[in-house]
Amino acid sequence: RTVQAFSSAVELGPYQHYMQKEIFEQPRAIADTLEGVAGIMPELFGDKAYKIFKEIDSVLILACGTSYYAGLTAKYWLESIAKIPVNVEIASEYRYRDSVPNPKSLVVTISQSGETADTLAALKHARSLGMAHTLTICNVATSAMVRECELAYITRAGVEVGVASTKAFTTQLVALLLLTLSLAQIRGLLTQEQEEAHLKAMRHLPAALQSVLALEPSIVAWAEAFARRENALFLGRGLHYPIALEGALKLKEITYIHAEAYAAGELKHGPLALVTDQMPVVTIAPNDALVEKLKSNMQEVRARGGQLYVFADGDSHINSSEGLHVIRMPEHYGVLSPILHVVPLQLLAYHTALARGTDVDKPRNLAKSVTVE
Ligand code: AGP
Repeated sequence: RTVQAFSSAVELGPYQHYMQKEIFEQPRAIADTLEGVAGIMPELFGDKAYKIFKEIDSVLILACGTSYYAGLTAKYWLESIAKIPVNVEIASEYRYRDSVPNPKSLVVTISQSGETADTLAALKHARSLGMAHTLTICNVATSAMVRECELAYITRAGVEVGVASTKAFTTQLVALLLLTLSLAQIRGLLTQEQEEAHLKAMRHLPAALQSVLALEPSIVAWAEAFARRENALFLGRGLHYPIALEGALKLKEITYIHAEAYAAGELKHGPLALVTDQMPVVTIAPNDALVEKLKSNMQEVRARGGQLYVFADGDSHINSSEGLHVIRMPEHYGVLSPILHVVPLQLLAYHTALARGTDVDKPRNLAKSVTVE
């Protein structure tokens, strides 16, 4: 019903499905979400943000599904750049457990729809524990979530019809990076030149995304192989572990392949037992500080006959070989890397679903907005 309601108002244009359209709308969605951001300042999040950001000593993120993975990504940014402690909680867990409240925490809810029952209930639970400072990163300005929170950053992804969230996720990440930089600034941890460098890189995102989207034909070829599989592993390290989680969720929810994501260092603690030549292992391999460790995790997989499908940055020295398939990302993106590295995973899930003939925009058993418990 939700999808029909939206889809009647939103034209598909040259695309086969809303999910494909929304994947390709990401450059525009990010440009719109950044529109008017002339500089980094707390006021981006509301008039009272400066006072609140001065008072808080930690962040509690509450979300579900893909939005939860955006929160996990933000934890790496917030703790490394703004040096502020962060807890990220699955909303449906947090709302029922005996947690220890901190009234000086900023409660951040992340929600595309702003109507997710578990996230709204988790927010209410946090407030009942005396946590009064609330901010939402949300894609619907008229939603319950925006009404309930003191502060808000409205992403401008436009209507997202596909049940599998894509452009909402990448615009959430942009908003969360702006939050990170605003908190770093107010805590005296962001120099003028760092601010300018980050903003310049963010303004480059739409162009960078266009060149990543141009990888689609290579990903279609991989999707043919994936379509015949019933299981898949996704590996990432550090900032890209949440992106591996998101890639696995995308594949699960629209192709019905059982996909799991692991922090690559976890492999030898159990999941390696799953690796055979029938188990495709997707690996996110940015050329960052962890790439050498990731390479040894990849060797663990190859030694067991696993088939590796690796998205490697342009300047990493990871090349195709027997059982090691590599698609090269056009650039190295530094701290913005998660925003770019998720896009090939969205395309992989989309084209694998096409090859399997599943209902891409309305996958079985799922709703676009989970407004019930
Ligand atoms: C993501 O592809 C799913 N559709 C789902 O996990 C979604 O992210 C989750 O239900 C949260 O929705 P929200 O962002 O609207 O709160």
